[in-house]
Amino acid sequence: MSVVIRAMGVHIPERRMTNDELASRVDTTDEWIRSHTGIGARHIAADGAQTSDLAADAARKALAKAGVGPHELDYIVVATATPDYLGFPSTACIVQDKIGAHGCAALDVVAGCTGFLYALQVATGLLESGQGRNALVIGAETLTRVTDWNDRATCVLFGDGAGAAVLSRIQEGGRGMLKFILGADGGGAKDLILVQPERLKTFEPPVPTAPVISMNGKNVYNFAVKSITVLIERIVHASIYSLDEIRWIVPHQANARIVQAAAKRLGLPEERFYMNMDEYANTSAASIPIALGEMEDKGLLNKGDLVMLVGFGAGLTYGAVVVRW
Ligand code: UT7
Repeated sequence: MSVVIRAMGVHIPERRMTNDELASRVDTTDEWIRSHTGIGARHIAADGAQTSDLAADAARKALAKAGVGPHELDYIVVATATPDYLGFPSTACIVQDKIGAHGCAALDVVAGCTGFLYALQVATGLLESGQGRNALVIGAETLTRVTDWNDRATCVLFGDGAGAAVLSRIQEGGRGMLKFILGADGGGAKDLILVQPERLKTFEPPVPTAPVISMNGKNVYNFAVKSITVLIERIVHASIYSLDEIRWIVPHQANARIVQAAAKRLGLPEERFYMNMDEYANTSAASIPIALGEMEDKGLLNKGDLVMLVGFGAGLTYGAVVVRW
């Protein structure tokens, strides 16, 4: 028995904001952003579009490709840091209604930019338990709505988008999700936090202003490079596969320099890592499924390929999974 990814679907908002356009509003330059992050543009959700709209579009595309009807789903798991509503209802329930998948279980997972990998393990575990055959796992974000556009150190980094995966339990063994490692270090919670600005400076009760992203860039950078390096070493050590057998490493798309530093430490060529932050910037929980969807469309993922997904983010959280496509 295996739990496999049957197909991916992606939603990229039409509105594209280049670094040059951003530089006309904020004290930054295309050269600084590219050289420090590898980011060239980001896409921005249309006014009025909710995270669930992006997620539902990606979900419909993935279901159509997989040939699975919404009524055949047993679970919908949405990873997001930017849900439609704070607390409840879950974005997954709203997606369920929008795609017409009535009756199946629906829940959100909150694990920052590692969210898609956490959601993947939750759904895999549910299907492996024997209860249900099909699950939809989605990473979806509207991060530009919680971006502090006065903070040039963070506003250049983020974008909106969604990626969805259709998972199925099949009889054949040795395919799909082969090995997971997930973890967290809550001691770093304040290094990347969505918070009302005033609360950063005082312990006064919250004031009714919109929360924005606040980040200790250096701490997160160091955590990210270490996480990618250690996770790749650990998951290879815990698997029966060598690093040479892994066809692609798909990292969370936060910053090309983070990936390059990890590749150097591991003695791996950069070409083994798939990167697309140049076009989409950091879309948090959506970044890995968007990358997988794009790779699938380009014909880069063939049946039998070993692919490693590796992520890190707010929490601080980290995770990796080896998948046989
Ligand atoms: O999904 C996980 C989320 N986050 C991450 O993975 C981000 C991890 N951190 C990073 O990627 C990097 O720390 C950043 C890209 C955020 C920052 O890069 P850095 O090389 O660590 O820059 P820095 O913060 O050390 O800043 C260097 C200089 C500073 O100027 P001074 O003090 O040297 O005069 C900043 O004020 O660059 C300045 N700066 C900028 N200049 C132009 C910071 N942001 C900008 C900007 N444009 N957008």
